[in-house]
Amino acid sequence: MALTSSYLLACLHLPAANLYAVSTSTPENAVLLLNDETRRIQKSLQHPNVITRLRLARNFLGGQERLLTSCKDGSVRVWDIQSGDCIRTFSTSPRRAILSFDISQDKSTIAAGTELAQQEAHIIFFSTDPESTDAHPGWVHTSTHSDDVTCLNFLGSSSQILSASTDGCLCISDASVKDEEEAVLSTSNWGCSIAQAGVIDDELIWAGSDMETFSVWSIELDKIADINIKSDPENPSIPSSAKSDYLVTVSSQPRGLIVGSYEGQISLLSLPKNSSSPLKLLHAPTSPLTGPPHATETVVRCALLVPEKDRVVTGAEDGMICVWPWPQELQKLKTKSAKRSKPSEPVEEVAEDRMDVDEEQEKPVKVKKRKKSKAE
Ligand SMILES: *[C@@H]1O[C@H](CO)[C@@H](O)[C@H](O)[C@H]1NC(C)=O
Repeated sequence: MALTSSYLLACLHLPAANLYAVSTSTPENAVLLLNDETRRIQKSLQHPNVITRLRLARNFLGGQERLLTSCKDGSVRVWDIQSGDCIRTFSTSPRRAILSFDISQDKSTIAAGTELAQQEAHIIFFSTDPESTDAHPGWVHTSTHSDDVTCLNFLGSSSQILSASTDGCLCISDASVKDEEEAVLSTSNWGCSIAQAGVIDDELIWAGSDMETFSVWSIELDKIADINIKSDPENPSIPSSAKSDYLVTVSSQPRGLIVGSYEGQISLLSLPKNSSSPLKLLHAPTSPLTGPPHATETVVRCALLVPEKDRVVTGAEDGMICVWPWPQELQKLKTKSAKRSKPSEPVEEVAEDRMDVDEEQEKPVKVKKRKKSKAE
């Protein structure tokens, strides 16, 4: 059963509270807090305009898990998920629609990326210090990008931030440097409008375009791979058995692309190693753990990995949440942070034994075990 007649746009897990937060499109413009077992709506957090991003901040403003939302009304809001109250609002002044935001790991700074207005797209930094007045942003970078700032991501615990834009550029700048001329550390132009971007394990950067292309970059913004992810007999990057119409998101555990089809199905594909190596189909769940699948003509807008519960949760334009299995084989693909009882045993990379798995990948592939983690 659909939760709403609006689209579901973004989702987030709040593990300590056993909740999922799911944002809905216009006209509803709400964040629904759902019990993560029953998926019943516990609370609905209303917004005056389109909700653009959700983030979780742990141990922030006196709460264990705080939900942060950005909105096209020009504000980033901090929510108490128990009471459903908005406890603090960071607003742009004059108001600019916020499309993306992130909070630094030390929670001292919120960076917000705006839509293009009066020929400028801004990255606005707010100090979260309670002494600072929320009405006045701390400092602003006005010329890092020349069009909508669609993604912002602090890199690990540093003050460096990745930004991506409709102008085609990925940029790393130092958020703590107020002088923009000195703040920009590196920039690369992908040459196509960037809709999504993120960081994997502080060592790789990925980006997805509005044109169903996908790229991987080093942390210095050197391009490693640039591929078309749309299933097509002419596209050698995507196995013929995969139904890939668009990127939903990127998973870091295991590393891969979660792609969706216009039939409301999702698949997990391996991350490209370079522009010419084809992706492997790692997992393509055919039916949800409970309840019906997504509508047969819909777009999956968000996916959330809950590895500790062996599941992937998706939200789609049909207003439904689906919970898909995340099999044991994939658990073994977990990267270095995963605990293993017998660390000397080789790990088998096994494609799921289903009809829809690419024939070339049906044989389990033995991969070398990572003996050392990156930190060692
Ligand atoms: C791309 O990666 C594949 C698999 O790792 C490798 O065999 C191939 O040589 C690489 N191609 C280029 C052009 O680097």
